[in-house]
Amino acid sequence: MKIALLILTSLLVSSIVADDVSKRDRVELPELKMPVNGLMFKMIEGYQDYKIVATHFRTDKDELRYVLANQIGYDALKERRKTMPEGSKIVKIGWSVREMPRFPTALEADKLQRVEYMVKDSKQFDADGDNWGYARFIKKGDRFVSWDKGTDGCISCHSIVKDNDYLFTQIQDTFN
Ligand code: HEC
Repeated sequence: MKIALLILTSLLVSSIVADDVSKRDRVELPELKMPVNGLMFKMIEGYQDYKIVATHFRTDKDELRYVLANQIGYDALKERRKTMPEGSKIVKIGWSVREMPRFPTALEADKLQRVEYMVKDSKQFDADGDNWGYARFIKKGDRFVSWDKGTDGCISCHSIVKDNDYLFTQIQDTFN
C-alpha cells in the first residue's frame, strides 16, 4: 500500500514538473519581422533551451545580458573555431537589474528588455562579408516590437571584432 502511494505521488509530482517544462517550451514567439532583412523572431523559436555561452553586463546601460547558442553555434564556440558554421544562431537576452530585496548588495534580473540574435546564413547575407543576419526585438510594456533602425549599425559596431568572426562573445568557462 505504501509503495502504491509512493508511486502515485511520484507520478503526480513528475506530471506537474513535466507540465511546467512543456508550458515553457510551448511559448510561441510573436509574428514579428525585421523591416529591412525580413528576419523573423520565430527564427529562434525554442531559444530558451539554447545553451548559455556567456554573461555580460553593460555598465552604461545597466543591463545584464545572457548570450546563448544553438547546438551548431555552441559546438563551434566550444571548439574555438575561427569562423562560425552555417546555421549558427547566437541569441542575446537583456534584463534591467534591481537590488535583491532581501540582500541589497546582490543584484538580480528585473525586467526583460530585449532579445537579439545573429544567424549565420551566407546565402542571404553576403553583402558585408561577415555572412551574419542581425535581428533585434525590444520589449515595450507587455509585448515585443521589431527594431526599426536597420542593421548597418549592428554590422559596423560588430566589425570591431572582425577578427573573431564579428562576435564579441568568447565562450565562458563553467568548469573546463
Ligand atoms: C555600439 C556597438 C554595438 C551595436 C550598435 C550593436 N552591438 Fe551587438 N554587441 C555589442 C557588444 C559590445 C556585445 C558584447 C556585450 C553584450 O553582450 O552586450 C554585443 C553582443 C551581441 C550579441 C551576442 C554575440 C556577440 O557578438 O557577442 C548579439 C546577438 C548582438 N550583439 C546583436 C546585435 C544586433 C542585432 C545589433 C543591431 C540591431 C547589435 N548587436 C548592435 C556591441 C554592439
